[in-house]
Amino acid sequence: MLLQVNSINTFYGPSQAIHDVSFDIGAREVVALLGRNGAGKTTTLRSIMGLNNVAQGSITLDGNDISHSPPQAISRLGVTLVPETRDPFVLLTVRENILLGYREGSPYTLDRLMDLFPLLKELLKKKGGELSGGQQQMMVMARGLAMGPRLLLLDEPSQGLAPIMVKTVASVLNALKQDDLTILLVEQNLSMALDIADRVVVLENGAVADTFTSAEGRANPGRLEQYLAVH
Ligand SMILES: Nc1ncnc2c1ncn2[C@@H]1O[C@H](COP(=O)(O)OP(=O)(O)O)[C@@H](O)[C@H]1O
Ligand SMILES: [Mg+2]
Repeated sequence: MLLQVNSINTFYGPSQAIHDVSFDIGAREVVALLGRNGAGKTTTLRSIMGLNNVAQGSITLDGNDISHSPPQAISRLGVTLVPETRDPFVLLTVRENILLGYREGSPYTLDRLMDLFPLLKELLKKKGGELSGGQQQMMVMARGLAMGPRLLLLDEPSQGLAPIMVKTVASVLNALKQDDLTILLVEQNLSMALDIADRVVVLENGAVADTFTSAEGRANPGRLEQYLAVH
């Protein structure tokens, strides 16, 4: 297993957001982390990245404990988070935003990224702050890929995007899957998540409620919807 999350507990002050969450990701696997708003998806990604303190339990990458490592160290080990807030550098150009992430040896060079995100080609000289939400999403995904991650953590890449941009995100994710990239994908768009992921982990109230293969999820939509329907 590339990543093992072993019974972690994460708190915000006295309030517990994550309860004994465990799951694994094998190399070259795409796992979707699903659940309602507030279920703990972002906190799980942030815990893996070292941005939230893991109070109990452990997280290992290639068998090495990273649960108490600082985010920069986890990043150097090859874990990259593309946050739901996107966090573009609004005053830097698109080119600068992307190349800021570039690490020697990354297969995602600027040329390769322009093949993956053709719409960014025309925008390289624009400032990050001048882009639409969808264009910013492409840019921050490109920045994350430029780091050459072994494990990419994607937090709701299609959130708030126009349908055409959602399609673009889906096609990029399919290309990354063809590249054998290992991805943990948080996504509200169920059909896209089931399309791209090999496996699904469902969170409910900060705990793992269910896990199944995407094939099982597609064959039995009710199994997933019961956790996601608003009630
Ligand atoms: N910075 C924070 N301070 C306090 N509570 C938080 C903070 N961020 C998230 N939470 C709480 O932690 C729980 C999980 O949130 P989150 O991980 O953001 O869920 P999701 O990404 O699935 O919508 C929610 O109850 C949320 O209100
Ligand atoms: Mg979230």
